[in-house]
This record gives sequence, structure tokens and C-alpha cells, in this order.
Amino acid sequence: MAINKKVKRIGILTGGGDCPGLNAVIRGVTKPAQDYGMTVFGIFDGFEGLVEGKARELRNEDVSGILLGSSNKGDPFHWPVEKNGKIVIENRAEAALRNYEAWNLDALIAIGGDGTMHISNKLGKLGMNIIGVPKTIDNDLEATDITFGHDSAVYVVMMALDRLHTTASSHHRVIVVEVMGRYAGWIALNGGLAGGADIILLPEIPFSWEKIYDKILKRELMGKRFSLVCVAEGASPKDGKMVLKGTDIRRHDPRQLGGIGEVVAKKIEENTKRETRVTVLGHLQRGGSPTPFDRILATKFGFFAIDLAARKKFGRMVALKGNEVKNVKIEEAISRQKLVKPDTQALIAAKGIGISFGE
Ligand code: F6P
Repeated sequence: MAINKKVKRIGILTGGGDCPGLNAVIRGVTKPAQDYGMTVFGIFDGFEGLVEGKARELRNEDVSGILLGSSNKGDPFHWPVEKNGKIVIENRAEAALRNYEAWNLDALIAIGGDGTMHISNKLGKLGMNIIGVPKTIDNDLEATDITFGHDSAVYVVMMALDRLHTTASSHHRVIVVEVMGRYAGWIALNGGLAGGADIILLPEIPFSWEKIYDKILKRELMGKRFSLVCVAEGASPKDGKMVLKGTDIRRHDPRQLGGIGEVVAKKIEENTKRETRVTVLGHLQRGGSPTPFDRILATKFGFFAIDLAARKKFGRMVALKGNEVKNVKIEEAISRQKLVKPDTQALIAAKGIGISFGE
């Protein structure tokens, strides 16, 4: 692009898993576009649409309801194709670049998590002008204090724990709630803390089975004949491995986590002889209405993303730092995963109020 050429046509796509707040970002980009003298092209189904050429212009009146569709299988650099009944992986980055050029895009706003930012970084090196917007319920991107979608997922976990509290208490049961988050324990930690879990199990803190049984039995001695366990899908015991429900080579990260809730419930019932049930929250954490926090954050991210595009700050991602939306290099955003650390205040507070982490 010529140095002095104004940014006039921008593409927008949502990569990876969906999450509450996506539409607010798209609105935050599309509504001010006219004021910036820009046209916005919505690319359907994430990077899949970029490779396959699926896009259309978005106008103000288009931006309500579910908009673009998302996909976590459309990595242009890792494109699954069926050949002779087998899935083989090809590189379709050239096709993505051709469409970007054919649509005459001056910039592309990519909304997504870790996988999307890795792909965006590589597309940037091929010559695309990328602006990143961080999105994931998992909240595992280091460069931003929080990603939109996380608060909504935490709200779902909190509501579930509130409801399970009464039924666990009236039946004197242990209820294990399995939550998402991949390799990071943010949803389990924040959701478990907000919802009053008695035990929280995180990927960052391998747990001891004995400590879990002890906590349940100690609560009984205090007259609490029920317990709530909030377990992250990526949690594992000290002497065991992460539980996978499958692998899918078409994805950026082929490992599909899930199943630890059942394992934990079975062990608890066998070893404490207390009736135990399990609830897997699954995709309830990803769908539905965003919380006010996520709506506001997503709108701010959308607006500041188009503003970055107008100022040609390419290769950068909007990020929340304290209460301010700033921007960081996409490269910096993908250099490290944000995990729960020993000095995470929510962890310290949770321990302080007696929640067990199975340590
Ligand atoms: O990254 C978001 C997330 O919801 C993870 O928490 C979870 O492990 C994964 O996506 C589930 O992916 P899918 O929707 O493909 O099952």
C-alpha cells in the first residue's frame, strides 16, 4: 500500500471459538466506519472465509444479531483437505492473500484468541495489514488484562454454582462442575470464587486426591454435608495426565479437552463414599448474552481497532491495561500464555477464605 494512501476498505473476521461480545466488536467497528470514510467487509466463518472468498460489505443496518460466523478449523497455514478418504494438511495462505488483494482491502481486523493472533502474525508477514482484537472466554492472552467473553463465561459458572448449591445441600451430595478454559484456570478460579465453590482445581496447580477427600470430610465435621467442586477442563492430578475427549488434526491445537469432571466425581464417590454428581457446563459458557462488562469492553475494542486502522498502526492488537484500551504488538501478544500464578490476587483471596485447591 502506498505510504500516503488512506485506509478505505477494511475486512473484519472472527477466528476461533465464538464468544459473547463478538457482535459488539463488529458494531464498534462498523458504526463509526462512515465517519472515518471507510467501507467494512465482513468475512464469513473466520479465516475459512478469507481463504474461500466469502465476504460482503457491512452497513450500519446490518450490524445486529449474529453476524459473521466463526470457525476454529480454518487456519490458512494448516488447511485440512480430504484426499483418498484421508485428511491431509495444506498451506492455503496464498489463497487468503489473493482474496485480501482482490477485495482491495487496506487492512484486516482479526478478532480472536491465541490461535487467531498466531495466524494473524503470519499473515502480517505475508504483507497483510492486520489489527488484532483479543477475544476468548479463556482469558489466556498475556498482553491484555482481560479478554471480552471471559466475564460472561464466569457469570454462567457463578449462576450454575448458585443453583447447584441448593440441590447439593438438600441431597447432601458432592457436585463437581467441569468448566472450560483450556490450559488456563481463569474461568474455574473466577467462576468458582464468585459462585462459592469449596474446592477449585486448576491446570496450574496439579492436585492431590487426598487433599480433596480431606476437604470434603472436614466440611462434614463442621456440619456441611455437601460440597461443590469447580474443576477446570485442563486440571490434572499430581500423578496423572490431562483428560482428553479427542483430537482433531484440523485444528490449530488438535487436543480437545474434557472429561476430568467425571474422573473427579468417580474418585470422590469411591474414596469418600459420599454420593457425587457431575455437571459439565460446556458451550453454555460461550453462548448467549454478554454481561454489561463484556458489551462495554467489546465496543471499546471495536472502536479503538478501527481507529488504529485509520492511523495505520498495523501489526498491533488492542489491549486493556487497567481501565484504558491501549495497543501492543501482535508478536508480543502471542509470546506467552497468561496463566494463573501464585501471586494472582484472586487465588490468594480464595485460599484466604478457605477454598481448597487440592494442594
Ligand atoms: O478456547 C475457547 C474454548 O471454549 C475452550 O475453553 C474449549 O476448550 C474449546 O474452546 C472448545 O472448543 P470447541 O467449541 O471446538 O469444542
